Amino acid sequence: MTAQPPTRHIPADVVNLEDYARHAQACLPEATWAYLSGGAADELTLRANRQAWSDWQLHPRVLKPLQGAHLRTTLLGRPVAHPILLAPVAAHQLAHPDGEIGVAYAAAAQAAGLILSTQASTRLEAVSHAYLAEPDHGPLWMQLYLQADRGATLALVQRAETAGYEALVVTVDAPTHGARDRERRAQFQMPTGMQVNLDTPPLRANADVDAGWQSVLAQAPTWSDIAWLQTQTRLPILLKGVLHEDDARQAQQLGIQGLIVSNHGGRTLDTAVSTAWALPRIADAVGGDVCLLVDGGIRRGTDVLKALTLGAQAVLIGRPYVYALATAGALGVAHVLRLLQDELAIAMVLCGCATVADIHRGLLARP
Ligand code: FNR
Ligand code: LAC
Repeated sequence: MTAQPPTRHIPADVVNLEDYARHAQACLPEATWAYLSGGAADELTLRANRQAWSDWQLHPRVLKPLQGAHLRTTLLGRPVAHPILLAPVAAHQLAHPDGEIGVAYAAAAQAAGLILSTQASTRLEAVSHAYLAEPDHGPLWMQLYLQADRGATLALVQRAETAGYEALVVTVDAPTHGARDRERRAQFQMPTGMQVNLDTPPLRANADVDAGWQSVLAQAPTWSDIAWLQTQTRLPILLKGVLHEDDARQAQQLGIQGLIVSNHGGRTLDTAVSTAWALPRIADAVGGDVCLLVDGGIRRGTDVLKALTLGAQAVLIGRPYVYALATAGALGVAHVLRLLQDELAIAMVLCGCATVADIHRGLLARP
């Protein structure tokens, strides 16, 4: 699958998350790189996500007591070692033969939460088996694309419950694939048979304008499908891909336990607002009742710190761990998680925060 034989060593010149990008590009076929790294259309949102974190400046505090500093916090009432999770990303086997199992071992060893994609290239039971074997693992959540057939959705939900997943993350920002120019130019095709947890190919990938468009739209999930799902599972539900305060309020009224402020890493609607911009508005709209997470363009410990100042309880990273996987397999993923925790710890200390609870919006300044 890869352009060069897959390796499992960390290149000496990698000292931060972004350093993995060029190594991943060198390891991967061009079309695979286009799929993993690309965004929708002109990739404005893809770039804006990163820019938006950079636009906030930190306003550090000094001489605060820092003894016993740590990164521990809670998520959905569960203690976690730190506020960093791996975002659901389809088909890890595209990046490296270690695939989702390698990612699961790495995440568990680093006590990072793991959200498995519906479109994973490894069976969800095998992933939970690997992840839950590590006693200090973080939260294991299952990402769900609601399937056209409710029976198929339910089968996935029941498998996830049985396999020990602790929550369902329903992605709501992608009823259709975005206009992915880079992917199309590179003629990327998801290899058939990759998405082993689904009996039928994902509906949304078939949004062929001529043939299937109306049927895709007719079957696109709505709020009533979310309400239905709530009656079908004992697991908490998070909605991933919320950017508007009104949608956040509607979810809250429905009793949804968590929201992930996300624009799908700039892969769906180009020019959609950047997540660092949307996050504080949603935090203000829902108060502290809903578990709030964010993703998109988080590459630095300072980005994580800023997300927490803006009201997130935790963050997800997507591409950085996939690039690390492509470069160095499971070891790379563990390395990325270590680097980001270390950078976060440094940023917190330099802002006078001994714990996540000490982080507040007063640490932010606009230039
Ligand atoms: C994704 N993302 C995604 N989201 C989801 O809910 N289900 C999925 O199957 C996928 N698949 C996927 C594949 C690839 C290659 C990428 C890059 C992303 C979106 C992902 O969960 C997350 O929202 C973004 O990747 C976060 O942005 P960054 O960290 O990549 O900038
Ligand atoms: C993507 C789908 C799988 O972003 O969510 O490629």
